Amino acid sequence: MIEVENLTKSYGPRPAVDRLSFQVNSGEVVGFLGPNGAGKSTTMNILCCILPATSGTVKVHGFDVFENPLEVRKRIGYLPENPPLYPDMVVGDFLKFAARLRQVPSSKIKSSVDNVVEKCMLGDVKGRLIGRLSKGYQQRVGLAQAMVHDPAILVLDEPTIGLDPIQIIEIRKLIRDLGREHTILLSSHILPEVTQICQRVVIIHEGRIAAMDTLEGLTASLKKTQRLDLALRQGGDDVRSGLAELDCVISAAETSSGKFTLECHPGSHPQDEVARLVLDRGWGLDELRPVSLSLEDIFLQLTTEEKEVTA
Ligand SMILES: Nc1ncnc2c1ncn2[C@@H]1O[C@H](COP(=O)(O)OP(=O)(O)OP(=O)(O)O)[C@@H](O)[C@H]1O
Ligand SMILES: [Mg+2]
Repeated sequence: MIEVENLTKSYGPRPAVDRLSFQVNSGEVVGFLGPNGAGKSTTMNILCCILPATSGTVKVHGFDVFENPLEVRKRIGYLPENPPLYPDMVVGDFLKFAARLRQVPSSKIKSSVDNVVEKCMLGDVKGRLIGRLSKGYQQRVGLAQAMVHDPAILVLDEPTIGLDPIQIIEIRKLIRDLGREHTILLSSHILPEVTQICQRVVIIHEGRIAAMDTLEGLTASLKKTQRLDLALRQGGDDVRSGLAELDCVISAAETSSGKFTLECHPGSHPQDEVARLVLDRGWGLDELRPVSLSLEDIFLQLTTEEKEVTA
């Protein structure tokens, strides 16, 4: 559906996007995750024919963005970082205008606008000036203009930025709903957002791919160790060293009295051995809990210890 191959974009001597290759398949909702300046907007602008690339290819439904931009634009709806809204226009008129710009046939303009007004829940504000709407509603108008020509693919650049928590929840729900009928590439540097909305993530850092996988796959492949949190009724160095001597345990640290964090070899069922030892020695087992890596841990690992990670 979207095929990016060896995409490079340099603004000056240093590339902002450096030999990026990834795919977004039909029907997927993919998160494009990276810290500020990683190259997310640059890549999205190229995908949506706003910006030329320095080298590499991007194809959308088989059409090359550089050779066939008109065909690509028909198939993509883009919500850029700063949505192109006219504050002095009324919502309904603006959407009609957007439909005309995207070459929706005159006979279909009304139904197309009605359709996006319904999907983006803009019915109550259709007659209001865009400039007077709240930021969340303006973002919905931005989404509606991106979808008015009924594209199969939506490219959304940080769609929840600048919104308050209630508006964020609403826009995320809207995007999840849209994901049932559209292929979506969504950029974000907010990790929980990606876990809530996307099935797969492409993590970029300094213009390069740092990782690309499903959320579960990413967590599993990065689990170099398994961590256990342990709460005992007895603490102290003897207990700590007893735990550290277990074969399955790589290291043991006492974080506060009786509370231990154990780094264990993955796949060795360390819980069994730890529990057995604790019960044998009568240390009093209050809690034994495997700690899974959050996407936040992974993101930090990938963007700070990049050299250790193979994409
Ligand atoms: N028009 C431009 N001219 C020169 N450099 C630019 C231009 N646009 C972007 N850059 C640089 O390219 C790099 C990538 O920027 P980009 O906006 O794509 O990042 P981003 O991942 O979208 O970041 P953010 O999360 O802050 O939106 C940055 O180092 C940025 O300074
Ligand atoms: Mg950006």
